[in-house]
Amino acid sequence: MNEHIVVEREAGLWTLRLNRPDKKHALTRAMYSHMAEALEQADLDPTVRAVLITGGPECFTSGNDISDFLQAPPTSLDNPVFQFMRAVFDFSKPLVAAVAGPAVGIGTTLLLHCDLVYVSRDARLKMPFVNLGLCPEFGSSLILPRLLGPAKAAELLLLGEAFNGEQACAWGIANAALEDGPTTLARAREMALRFTGLAPSAVADSKRLMRAPGREELRRVMVEEAELFGQRLRSPEAIEALSAFMQRRPADFSRFA
Ligand code: COA
Repeated sequence: MNEHIVVEREAGLWTLRLNRPDKKHALTRAMYSHMAEALEQADLDPTVRAVLITGGPECFTSGNDISDFLQAPPTSLDNPVFQFMRAVFDFSKPLVAAVAGPAVGIGTTLLLHCDLVYVSRDARLKMPFVNLGLCPEFGSSLILPRLLGPAKAAELLLLGEAFNGEQACAWGIANAALEDGPTTLARAREMALRFTGLAPSAVADSKRLMRAPGREELRRVMVEEAELFGQRLRSPEAIEALSAFMQRRPADFSRFA
């Protein structure tokens, strides 16, 4: 059990709700493990037809817990973050996301692996990996240049530019941008529930076909990114940027060559 992840089980649909509001749902190792286990269970349970992931009507997630990054940087691909990424990557049933407020780092890259994504218009999505002295993860260095073209992808991944729900929708990252958090949650839930009335094997076969092209390449890139990310977490650049966040000051990269 982990108090920061609430798993709501109802007939056909499980909802994974991030529940750490005082830290904007920043994801700890325990939270990743719990979500990975819930996804693995949901995949094996024939009564589950879809999973919805949300942070509620105000905030999706501020991404990886930065103090975890500083205190316990992942040392191998057995770490809970990668365990979670693998569970998402291998999940055979529909995964639906409801996003309102900030969706930072993995809060945005996770969406690239969901089957349906609903966002509030004023959601703030951002992948500040380079800003933190890190590099892209979860296959985003492969997926985003292909989805958006290299120029737009560079703004998002090299500069860490933020974007809103309407942009996410226009760029094909989300299905619909809705007026506010509660409406977004309601729409995502309504769409996720539709899977409970569909033929489960037909849905799973179709998802597998849709995700098959480039899948092995994506798996290889996710491993390459994760290895580099782990190395970069120990770099002086990342330590400066992560410490700066904790100390509420701007990062200073002027001393780095
Ligand atoms: N890791 C750890 N703690 C975090 C966090 C994170 N990723 N994001 C936010 N927090 C903490 C803050 O330190 C603060 O804690 P405190 O109240 O004990 O000081 C609390 O959550 C609230 O955050 P705050 O920044 O005051 O909220 P905000 O509404 O002004 O901004 C965000 C929200 C998400 C935009 C901002 O917190 C942010 O940019 N967080 C970092 C995101 C990030 O870089 N994630 C890593 C991506 S790889």
